[in-house]
Amino acid sequence: MTAAASSGALAGPILCVVGARPNFMKMAPILRALSDHEPPLPYLLVHTGQHYDQDMSDRLFDDLGLPRPDINLEVGSATHAVQTAEVMRRFEPVVDAHHPSCVVVVGDVNSTLACTLVAAKKGVPVAHVEAGLRSHDRQMPEEVNRVVTDQLADRLYTTERCAADNLAKEGIAAGRVCFAGNVMIDSLLANRAHARPAAASLQAHGIDPLLLDGPRGYGVVTLHRPSNVDDAAMLEHLLGVLGKVSEALPLVFALHPRTRANIERFGLQRLIAPQRMALLPPQGYLEMLGLMDRATLVLTDSGGLQEETTALGVPCLTLRENTERPITIDQGTNTLVGRDATAILDNVGLILEGRGKRGRVPERWDGRAAERIADDLWQWLRTTEPR
Ligand code: UD1
Repeated sequence: MTAAASSGALAGPILCVVGARPNFMKMAPILRALSDHEPPLPYLLVHTGQHYDQDMSDRLFDDLGLPRPDINLEVGSATHAVQTAEVMRRFEPVVDAHHPSCVVVVGDVNSTLACTLVAAKKGVPVAHVEAGLRSHDRQMPEEVNRVVTDQLADRLYTTERCAADNLAKEGIAAGRVCFAGNVMIDSLLANRAHARPAAASLQAHGIDPLLLDGPRGYGVVTLHRPSNVDDAAMLEHLLGVLGKVSEALPLVFALHPRTRANIERFGLQRLIAPQRMALLPPQGYLEMLGLMDRATLVLTDSGGLQEETTALGVPCLTLRENTERPITIDQGTNTLVGRDATAILDNVGLILEGRGKRGRVPERWDGRAAERIADDLWQWLRTTEPR
């Protein structure tokens, strides 16, 4: 049991849930803030095991200084229905055993939804961190997870002001919503000084770091959305466009296991020009931070990277038709370019001419979001009637 869980400040521990890679950087500052709170707020860390590889999970725990999970549900990969159901089946006895005062979930992955459903049906209050983001695209599995999680959550912590408008439109009372800021940026600011130099990350995989030293620097690529990488024609198209980008700017491509598997399955390895495009396995948190911090631009379909590049002031081109994080466009360095070759290449050209977006860091992306959440959670739990 985590040391903090022995404190008697609450009726029961707070069950903090993580499942997949993008959850870990959000939960790390929250756990620290719960421990640092006066009085300390007892918690147990539950890892559903949705992500389980060394690269996708353990290494991020180490980088972020996350404690080992108190409970690991070891669900692994499966279809959405099976994965969600398996998390629910294995999480229910955990709730029964520990009588938590509440369950804290972060982000929008299947584990977020599954644990919210279990807690809500058991009458255990749920706090959702990163509430109210909407792409308005129900084809995205994450959008379904966001909508349902927010409907069921009792306390909703938002990262940007327009999230409250999205929640209001869905009938969620303003009194349930708290504008806390962005916990992912708490992690970024706490770790930026310890980021691993990009050259070291390339060398670790036998790649000549000279690739990074061209007159225009280098770009960083990540792609993993099913809409971009699960369809052979789309993945072929995008790799072709990236090949063209790499003629002007060398690229470092951190490959998600889903993307690597599909490149092999569809026989698309021929589209990777190794002299201009360095392929890396999924990177640790400190490696990714080091790669992005010095990059000329980032090309991605990740939600988290849109926010991290805004905080770092690095231009970001998002290869999607929509984003649930509009503040990164309105205030930050992000541009939605979709998947059209001309739009992508034109925007790369603009950035290489020094005309990329500079942006500014949004309100409450200041490294103190988790502290605000711990303060609010304490007040809220003390004043909430048991259901
Ligand atoms: C999940 C999240 C997505 C998030 C992404 C970050 C949902 C619906 N999707 O998508 O929001 O942006 O994580 O990575 O929750 N695999 C491994 N090792 C692992 C985990 C997965 O090799 O540790 C492989 C498996 O072959 C698996 C595939 O990656 O089938 C996809 O994993 P999965 O967790 O189903 O979805 P992600 O695409 O990672």
